[in-house]
Amino acid sequence: MSEFNVEKIRQDFPILSREVRGKKLIYLDNAATSQKPLAMIEAQARVYKELNANVHRGVHFLSQESTDAYEKSRVKIAKFIGAKSEQEIIFTRGTTEAINLVASTWGKANIKAGDDIVVTRMEHHSNFVPWQSLAKEKGANFKIIELNPDFTLDLNHLESVLKLGKTKILAFTAMSNVLGTINPVKEIAAMAKKYGALVLVDGAQAVAHTATVLKDFGDIDFLAFSAHKMCGPTGIGVLWGKKDVLLAMPPYQFGGDMILQVGDSDTSWNELPWKFEAGTPNYGDSIAFGAALDYLQKIGMKQIHEYEQELLKYAREAIVKLPGIRVLGPEPGLQGGVLSFTSATVHPHDLATFLDVQGIAIRAGHHCAQPLMRKLGVIATNRASFYFYNTKQEIAFFINALGNALEYFQ
Ligand SMILES: Cc1ncc(COP(=O)(O)O)c(C=O)c1O
Repeated sequence: MSEFNVEKIRQDFPILSREVRGKKLIYLDNAATSQKPLAMIEAQARVYKELNANVHRGVHFLSQESTDAYEKSRVKIAKFIGAKSEQEIIFTRGTTEAINLVASTWGKANIKAGDDIVVTRMEHHSNFVPWQSLAKEKGANFKIIELNPDFTLDLNHLESVLKLGKTKILAFTAMSNVLGTINPVKEIAAMAKKYGALVLVDGAQAVAHTATVLKDFGDIDFLAFSAHKMCGPTGIGVLWGKKDVLLAMPPYQFGGDMILQVGDSDTSWNELPWKFEAGTPNYGDSIAFGAALDYLQKIGMKQIHEYEQELLKYAREAIVKLPGIRVLGPEPGLQGGVLSFTSATVHPHDLATFLDVQGIAIRAGHHCAQPLMRKLGVIATNRASFYFYNTKQEIAFFINALGNALEYFQ
């Protein structure tokens, strides 16, 4: 077991000691959103209690203080992912908005009829539909890379599509929110670059659960991720982009901070990163996100990943012993802390409801990945997903309750 003290860590998360339905909460829905440590909650409250003023707008003390805190947070994020400059960090509402930003600005400026836009079968709708929609609008071809039977990406299929030389952008996830598959981003990016495609990585799961920084991802152009999946607040996320690519992109929305000068017939844009941050930004949550990153870094992303791997191994070994349970995910080692499964006899929603009565929160549904569900031949799966504050005891309790559910529904 890793050296960090999970019981001590749990004390940082007030919600983990609450009861639901008269039972102790066991929260195993971390791939949807993580719980929040006091350090983040207090940092957010502090913004509104002590330094609230609109950023970049005033010469007065408070406005300068909140602007400083906002921009400091950007620097923290840049360091966290190993970006070359904070100018490459654009605040968005989350992963979804970050991807939509690229599809609607870079996409509209660069995609033309006959181009290929490529995604994979394991994408979340947020990294699927914006590209599908862009392809329709432009008359481009929308291509989906399929999976191997072991739930990894079929790299031969990918290369056969890239080889055609028509791919303008390859958008794929670093870690699947359904299968847990951790994709070899560096290898995939190198392949895309060989054939001249830009690369967008959906980091919604990977940035929260692995110790990966940009240099491990190799030659990518964009990375999108969300604060709420990594102990931060909701409503804030990041688009990282290579500076030269961002500079060449038209703005996303208009007004507020993204403006440099407005004439009667023309307007010029602010420099990076503000060119992409129209209107009053969500500075309260951005500052709190910085506090969440401080918290994660104190624990250590490497430790977090290793500990989650232990939890996953423990859960996988136990769950496969239950009758009729099929795990949908690759070999351990290629999988993050996400465990999707189906029962041969019981509907996923029945299982999740049975567990909910006992205070255990797992997910049932298509996990915003309907194209994947269709390919797997299921309408839904159950998904238990772990974070560093979960314990083996919780998992043992969950597996035991799952066993009881299977028996009950027999
Ligand atoms: C892999 C992946 N991509 C994108 C998203 C969308 O993230 P958000 O809803 O924070 O924009 C999620 C959320 O579950 C996800 O897991």
